[in-house]
Amino acid sequence: MKIAFFSTQLYDRTYFNQYNRGHELVFFEAPLNEQTVNLASGFTAICAFVNDTISEPVIRQLAAQGVQLIALRCAGYNNVDLAAARAHQIPVVRVPAYSPFAVAEHAVAMILTLNRKTHKAYNRVREGNFSLQGLTGFDLHGKTVGVIGTGQIGQVFAGIMQGFGCRVLAFDVIANKDMEAKGVEYLPLVKLLPQCDIISLHCPLNEQTKQIISTQTLSMMKDGVMLINTSRGGLIDTQAATDALKTGRLGYLGIDVYEQEEKLFFHNLQDEIIHDDVIMRLMSFPNVLVTAHQGFFTDEALTQIAQTTLQSINDFEQGKALVNRIA
Ligand code: NAI
Repeated sequence: MKIAFFSTQLYDRTYFNQYNRGHELVFFEAPLNEQTVNLASGFTAICAFVNDTISEPVIRQLAAQGVQLIALRCAGYNNVDLAAARAHQIPVVRVPAYSPFAVAEHAVAMILTLNRKTHKAYNRVREGNFSLQGLTGFDLHGKTVGVIGTGQIGQVFAGIMQGFGCRVLAFDVIANKDMEAKGVEYLPLVKLLPQCDIISLHCPLNEQTKQIISTQTLSMMKDGVMLINTSRGGLIDTQAATDALKTGRLGYLGIDVYEQEEKLFFHNLQDEIIHDDVIMRLMSFPNVLVTAHQGFFTDEALTQIAQTTLQSINDFEQGKALVNRIA
C-alpha cells in the first residue's frame, strides 16, 4: 500500500522503515492541513501526528483524492474531526497505548527538574559556579499529588509518585478500582485542587476538559502549587497560568504541550525570530520548564508506534477488523 506520512522527522523514517514489510512509505516534512492535503493525492492511506489538522475540509479533500485510511501515529485524536471521517467513510486508527511509562516518567522528570533545579545546577557547575544559592528544593516524600485523568498514563504516574512516598489524590470521570485498592483517593475536582502540592494532567483534551485549568480552578489551588501538563496544551488557559505565575499562586509550571505548539514544537527555530509572545513570556519565568512534546520519545514508544500503526495498515489491507479504530 502507498502511504503518505505527514509532519515527519528523521526518527519517524528510521523506525517506520525498520518495521515496514512491503508498503511504499513516502515521508513529507510538511504538516497535513488544507494547504498540503493535495500531497496525499495518489496515496491509499495517510499517516498523521499530533499537530496535523485533520478537519472536515481536509477529510473531504482526502476522500476526493481516494485516500481510504487515516492512521494516526499517536494516542490523542483531538485534532481529528471524527464525524467528518465517518461521513466520508474513511476509517481512522490510532495507537492507543505505546508506553504509558514514557509519558509518566517524563512528567516525573519535569517534577524533579523543577523541584531540585538540576538543569540550573548542570549549567552552574560547568561554569565553575559551585554555589547552592537558589537551588533549594523540597522533599517529595509526604507531599500530596493530584492526578487528573487516571487512564494508562495517569495510573503509571500515580504509582511512581506513591513510590516517592506521596499521598495521591485523583479526579476522573470513572474511578479505577485497582488504584483505589492501592490507596489512591478519588475526589471531585473542587475538593482535590486545594489539597495538592503537585497537580499533573493526564486526561484527554475534549469539550469537558478544555481549559480545565483556568483562572477559576487556579484560584482553588494552594499557593505555590506545581502544575505539570504532559497531555494537551488546550487543557490549560495559558494566559491564566501566566497570571498565576506572576502572583505566585503557581509556584512551578512544567509543560510538555502547549496550545499553539504546532507552530513551534518539533522544529529547530534557533536562528529565527519567535513571534509567539505567550510562550516567550512563559519561558522567561525561572520556575517554568518547557519541553517540546517529548513525553512519548523513548525507544520503546517509537517501536510500539511504528509496529502498531503498520499492523493497523496491514489489517486494513487484508480486510481484517481494525482493533484500534476510533471512527
Ligand atoms: P487514557 O485514555 O488511557 O486515559 C485518559 C483518562 O482520562 C481516562 O481515565 C478517562 O476516563 C479520563 N478522562 C476523560 N475525560 C475526563 C474528564 N472530563 N475529566 C477527568 N478525566 C477524564 O489515555 P492515556 O493513554 O493515559 O493518555 C492521556 C493523554 O496523554 C492523551 O489523551 C494525550 O493527550 C496525552 N499524551 C501525551 C503524550 C506526550 O508525548 N506528551 C503522549 C501520549 C499521550
